Amino acid sequence: MRTIFWDDCVKLIDQTLLPDRFEVIKCKRVEELADAIKRLAVRGAPALEAAGGYGIALAAYERDFAEVGELKEHIRKCAELLASTRPTAVNLFYGIERVLSAAMQGENVEEVKLLALSEAEKIASEDVERNRQMGKHGAKLLKDGFTVLTYCNAGRLATVDWGTALGVIRSAVEEGKKIKVIACETRPLNQGSRLTAWELMQDGIDVTLITDSMAGIVMQKGLVDCAIVGADRIVRDAVFNKIGTYTVAVLAKEHSIPFYVAAPETTFDWGKEAKDVVIEERSREELIYCNIKCKRSLIAPTDVGVFNPAFDSTPLNYVSALITEKGVIYPPYDENVPKALGF
Ligand code: MRU
Repeated sequence: MRTIFWDDCVKLIDQTLLPDRFEVIKCKRVEELADAIKRLAVRGAPALEAAGGYGIALAAYERDFAEVGELKEHIRKCAELLASTRPTAVNLFYGIERVLSAAMQGENVEEVKLLALSEAEKIASEDVERNRQMGKHGAKLLKDGFTVLTYCNAGRLATVDWGTALGVIRSAVEEGKKIKVIACETRPLNQGSRLTAWELMQDGIDVTLITDSMAGIVMQKGLVDCAIVGADRIVRDAVFNKIGTYTVAVLAKEHSIPFYVAAPETTFDWGKEAKDVVIEERSREELIYCNIKCKRSLIAPTDVGVFNPAFDSTPLNYVSALITEKGVIYPPYDENVPKALGF
């Protein structure tokens, strides 16, 4: 099943409920989808790209419009709302812009609606296809018997289907290789323990959960052959991904373990540098409550000072290779990324 899809409205797997409950929720209004993005019911850069695209389609379908000018004005407002939800993953903006510009080509209400929806559906289908390609290229880096450490969730749930970092692992397993995965829990919202562990177990892939603070010991003990993570944005000098990724990259370099980043072309924002990117800061409640959903079980004094950035940046010199749908890209990235991706 796809993580996010169109069925008269936008439907998505509510990732805040996993692994307790598997539930598909309906977003019939753009406000509902924007809220789902903010509270991470849908999350992960490629899934956000699809959400941005479907959000524009939803804007066109959520109510009736008498004339095309009114509809286009409404779509533009909805695009602003969707773009204001989360700042770091560049894919969200790509998805919104792509469907917005397709919709604006329509000459009447019906045409705008059809153009928006068909472009959004294209984004979703392309994501599945490119993840398969990425998986095929990346699987060449994984030898039979490898143990791969991963961080956060860059799997089916973070994409429309298959996954980026986990897609590489899935493809290697599909080729018949025996691969073990070590999943870091990924505090504070536990995308690693709640989502990565869950989805790998659904597929019967061998996964062992560790806390984030255990990444060092498993590397020191020689238990990790490589690390693979996803990305929210790749700029000329750094990779932005879930908070804690930088720590894993530094540890990997210290232990001479390859550190790979798997991401589609739409995650690249090559015109920018790390200093240009806004890192989302999230609420203090995520750190002080054991269960953020019901705001119970304090794990810190309620009035403690809190710093809660959702992402960090890993300088590209820590990255052994970038795995994309166009192939594996090795350093020097300033030469090889534009060559491979045509920037
Ligand atoms: O805050 P999240 O859960 O949206 O963060 C997601 C990540 O950092 C993922 O690793 C990244 O988006 C890549 S997903 C293929």
